[in-house]
Amino acid sequence: VHCLYLVRHGQTEFNVRGRIGGDPPLTAKGRAQAQALAQHMRHKEIDWVFTSTRLRSHETATPLLAERPGAHIMAFKEFNEIWAGDCEGMLYSEIRERMPQVTAGRNANKFSYAYPNGESYALLGERVQRGLRRALFLAGDTPLVIVGHQAINRVLLSLFLRQRSEDVPYIYIPQNQYYHISLTPRRKVFERVPYQDDS
Ligand code: G3H
Repeated sequence: VHCLYLVRHGQTEFNVRGRIGGDPPLTAKGRAQAQALAQHMRHKEIDWVFTSTRLRSHETATPLLAERPGAHIMAFKEFNEIWAGDCEGMLYSEIRERMPQVTAGRNANKFSYAYPNGESYALLGERVQRGLRRALFLAGDTPLVIVGHQAINRVLLSLFLRQRSEDVPYIYIPQNQYYHISLTPRRKVFERVPYQDDS
């Protein structure tokens, strides 16, 4: 039996402003989300926590680990957010104004469109699968948490849910709820669990 909790990092200033990429820390609200997550999960058995190498992912995992001295944490670059290339650090509104071809390309086919010198959702598949394989190998049969990012979690979910590829970039990945995925040889159960009111 595999039990996987798929969490998105808490809010950052970039999220508030609509800025993509970068390595911003959590806001006060994001830190409160991370605390609420740890509180919600305090009685759950969790042996492994996997993050990306980004600060926001690590900061979200920190309270979770504070109460679990025996748990392992590992940061995988395979779980880093989609690389926006020339658009890294830009506001969506700046991209619309200054690089309208990028917005148009994404609107036309968000799954396949790669940012200039960056990645597409399609390109993420391979590295995300590599990260997931490593995580599942290390965790074995024990429950694990992955603290990922919006695009990464969409791709991770799609690996289990077998979504149509064009739908993958639009899967709902909130910052105050996680996906609980439990896998047995006979069935897969998906549950979206709120751990904090969105205030
Ligand atoms: O760039 C990071 C975003 O979280 C990905 O979201 O593909 O919907 O722009 P998006």
